[in-house]
Amino acid sequence: MYRIFFQLIFRRMDPEAAHHLAFGWIRSAARVPVLRTLLAALLAPRHKALRVEALGRRMHGPFGLAAGFDKNAVAVDGMTMLGFDHVEIGTVTAEPQPGNPKKRLFRLVGDRALINRMGFNNEGSAAVSARLAARNPVFRTTVGVNIGKTKAVPEEGAIADYVTSTERLAAHADYLVVNVSSPNTPGLRDLQAVGHLRPLLTAVREAADRTVPGRRVPLLVKIAPDLADEDVDAVADLALELGLDGIIATNTTIARDGLGLTSEPSLTKETGGLSGQPLKARSLEVLRRLYARVGDRITLIGVGGIESPDDAWERILAGATLVQGYSGFIYQGPFWCRALHRGLAQRLAASPYATLADAVGAEHRK
Ligand SMILES: Cc1cc2nc3c(=O)[nH]c(=O)nc-3n(C[C@H](O)[C@H](O)[C@H](O)COP(=O)(O)O)c2cc1C
Repeated sequence: MYRIFFQLIFRRMDPEAAHHLAFGWIRSAARVPVLRTLLAALLAPRHKALRVEALGRRMHGPFGLAAGFDKNAVAVDGMTMLGFDHVEIGTVTAEPQPGNPKKRLFRLVGDRALINRMGFNNEGSAAVSARLAARNPVFRTTVGVNIGKTKAVPEEGAIADYVTSTERLAAHADYLVVNVSSPNTPGLRDLQAVGHLRPLLTAVREAADRTVPGRRVPLLVKIAPDLADEDVDAVADLALELGLDGIIATNTTIARDGLGLTSEPSLTKETGGLSGQPLKARSLEVLRRLYARVGDRITLIGVGGIESPDDAWERILAGATLVQGYSGFIYQGPFWCRALHRGLAQRLAASPYATLADAVGAEHRK
């Protein structure tokens, strides 16, 4: 059904306009109690074996919405209604900003991929903080808050900028993510170098503890798939050294490997971050490398090119406690999350593992 709808309607529309249309529908549906309850009952994960504890939270299932879809925290209940058990909002920057000029989002349908150079368009940390504070949550979803650098702020001001966002947002976050991996903010990915990352993460940790004294807000870092292997190892070591709670692997890539089937080859030349199916192999590789280094000492979240239950299962065996997706939702539609959770429950039942937690990183123990 969704595939036909996608071909007839969404595919003919500008991708960003289609996003806003679908987003509007989801938000509207979530405001109608009967519809919301019905859809949530139909789509929420409810297989006991999929329950998982991560980042100090009890989750109903491992699959969540990756950052970038709900940048301003306007649709947390709507996305939960569709079965995402955690929703990562953002990237939020300290100051509001419009992002890059349009067109800035491209569909590579033949490759089931997207290229985006949105550039952190968002309402800024003060507005998002006020929205989260006023939120009357219908569902007890885990809300991750992903923060990034305001574009106009020079590199010397980066730490202060992240600290401002932390001070405004940490109290509303079930977990906080320092995003240093988007390819669309000039210089941002340089912050992944350990020399920059150590003071940044230390300052964000201190700001979170200062602002939310009664609770230790879990802190994660999100990394790019384009890091060299040695740099992935260096981030893993730093995460252990600083007592970070987790790493999210990965963001979009500036590489264009694995593309080919797309109907419009000119699109592959668009600058920006590539997501979806062509990102799968490298994201998995980075995750494997991280788990080999950190084991179960910190939580790994696998994201990048996850489309099917097999993809999600593969990430779990490779070391991910939680998994996320974005591009798959565009191509597979509103029942995607349920299909993933269902399929995962089937794979778990057919496996030698009693719980999902037993399966995390299992391929490394063979
Ligand atoms: C249009 C778009 C916008 C995105 N915006 C953000 C963002 O603001 N912050 C972030 O950390 N990741 C962002 N991402 C990256 C996703 O969170 C995810 O890491 C990436 O798309 C790989 O997952 P996927 O292959 O399932 O899409 C964005 C991705 C897309 C497609």
